[in-house]
Amino acid sequence: MESMKILPSGAGCIPHLNAVILGESLATEENDFVLPSEEFASQANVQSPEQYLKMYKRSIEDPAGFWSDIASEFYWKQKWGDQVCNENFDVRKGNINIEWFKGGITNICYNCLDRNVEAGLGDKVANYLKDIGVKKGDAVIIYLPMLMELPITMLACARIGAVHSVVFAGFSSESLSQRIIDCKPKVVITCNAVKRGSKVIYLKDIVDTAINDSTQNGDVIPQYPTTCPVEWLDAEDPLFLLYTSGSTGKPKGVVHTTGGYMVYTATTFKYAFDYKPSDIYWCTADCGWITGHSYVTYGPILNGATVVLYEGAPNYPDAGRSWNIVDKYKVSIFYTAPTLVRSLMRDGDEHVTRYSRKSLRVLGSVGEPINPSAWRWFYNVIGDSRCPISDTWWQTETGGFMITPLPGAWPQKPGSATCPFFGVQPVIVDENGIEIEGECSGYLCVKSSWPGAFRTLYGDHERYETTYFKPFAGYYFSGDGCSRDKDGYYWLTGRVDDVINVSGHRIGTAEVESALVSHPKCAEAAVVGVEHEVKGQSIYAFVTLVGGVPYSEELRKDLVLTVRKQIGAFAAPDKIHWAPGLPKTRSGKIMRRILRKIASRQLDELGDTSTLAEPNVVNQLIELADS
Ligand code: WTA
Repeated sequence: MESMKILPSGAGCIPHLNAVILGESLATEENDFVLPSEEFASQANVQSPEQYLKMYKRSIEDPAGFWSDIASEFYWKQKWGDQVCNENFDVRKGNINIEWFKGGITNICYNCLDRNVEAGLGDKVANYLKDIGVKKGDAVIIYLPMLMELPITMLACARIGAVHSVVFAGFSSESLSQRIIDCKPKVVITCNAVKRGSKVIYLKDIVDTAINDSTQNGDVIPQYPTTCPVEWLDAEDPLFLLYTSGSTGKPKGVVHTTGGYMVYTATTFKYAFDYKPSDIYWCTADCGWITGHSYVTYGPILNGATVVLYEGAPNYPDAGRSWNIVDKYKVSIFYTAPTLVRSLMRDGDEHVTRYSRKSLRVLGSVGEPINPSAWRWFYNVIGDSRCPISDTWWQTETGGFMITPLPGAWPQKPGSATCPFFGVQPVIVDENGIEIEGECSGYLCVKSSWPGAFRTLYGDHERYETTYFKPFAGYYFSGDGCSRDKDGYYWLTGRVDDVINVSGHRIGTAEVESALVSHPKCAEAAVVGVEHEVKGQSIYAFVTLVGGVPYSEELRKDLVLTVRKQIGAFAAPDKIHWAPGLPKTRSGKIMRRILRKIASRQLDELGDTSTLAEPNVVNQLIELADS
């Protein structure tokens, strides 16, 4: 092992990136750092910590120069005005406002397709949409499985300036109808049915239930011409809205605009995956979530990347399916979620090792913290100890990667998302909103905007400010807890609000609670997340029944079914804990801290229960824990 090399840390905002140079790169328990191979580093887009620091420093000190150089590589019908970025990021100074490349006229679909390929894939569907009267600014809901038609429809909307809102096809008809009511789309695009593993799911029936109206389907498309003129848009015109969970029951319509999102997703994709034109890229995310927007559709296609799209389940017909696909299509960049890594890890190495996987060169992880043991298995077994892992931390709200390794640039640490992307200034604050320096832990915030930032919540700018900018004035608050180590590496520790992350899917506890209490026999419900070996977290619900109703297995099933129906199967509670009462403060607030401890059976860590209105409730809950 060579000696530690301390790199210049520059201005306060530049992370301390102390590179420890190790002789080998096998990720073992003892090795804190995992180095990219020399072969990898020498061909990488960013090859050293020094090169990263130089670029990062410029992105912070001269964001306008940094981002306008990158934006100039895209096609703009008209260049943006004098100001690259115009922002108010501080609620104390007025309304939050973020604008990038304002006045610039472009089209993201044009940049994805026309700029990169001769024949536009999005053209066919776009003409159909225009014919039925969809115009610039109209909302279009897309409720489709991961068929080729899904990204094509997104691009078609973008081409004509319609605002797409993809609803994950695992959502129930009731969730879909809630979103239809909120964004009032001109059309809902779906398909008849999809196979998931061996099961057939009839999507069109779900849509019919949601809108109670069966009209056109895809059969009409072939009669349309194969070209469609582009609708030119301002950089700040909306591109899409995507609903995500928050700490109240009502989903939030996160709004992303055109220009900044385009520049940001393309750039993050290029650097975080060390993208080269020869790469074959496969991301296992569904377009119903942000990952499928930014890193199945826009980011890769803007780079002209070859993308593998897979509509099936990753473990069907067997646990080796992913590697079968990797070998068949020579996938070189594979981007997935820790939950899949953990479940494949449980299925055994033999499903992996019987495939070659030699085309792989970069791996990626997203959606939740990846625990070091899953990281090592991903690295050593899937990647044969040769492929760097980009553990990308970001959110629906951020549009693109915020904290991520640049493979090839610096050593990695299993379980850490490493350092900020260009232009991103993460800060850790304490509960009073005071920024903490150096090695510390606290709440993860971001200082000043980045091009891919969301601009508002659809129809509710006030909620946007209250949720994200008021908790710690002067910063964007992510909702995540985080620590920073002595080398300046960031370690995400999970949500600090009432949001649970199940298999990388964001679910608000309040959404599940309101589904449960809609059952006529349920009086009250409190939902918490508990650690789960494969899913990261699972949903654990404490349920109080209406007076006189007895507990029964049948009722338990019925409650779970209610949640499946109202939200979707992915939000079904794993455990219903019968509760004669819930622990509340004297002012009536449910003490979730105590419920979390009971749910995870950490009974010696219940803490102070003396402030409870009825301290005895806790003992009753413990007695009923395994009934
Ligand atoms: C979590 C998904 C740790 C985090 C892109 C965040 C992560 C939430 C990571 C956003 C990661 C996402 N390490 N935690 N690499 N990536 N998260 O909006 O809690 O579906 O706040 O976006 O997922 O989930 P969302």
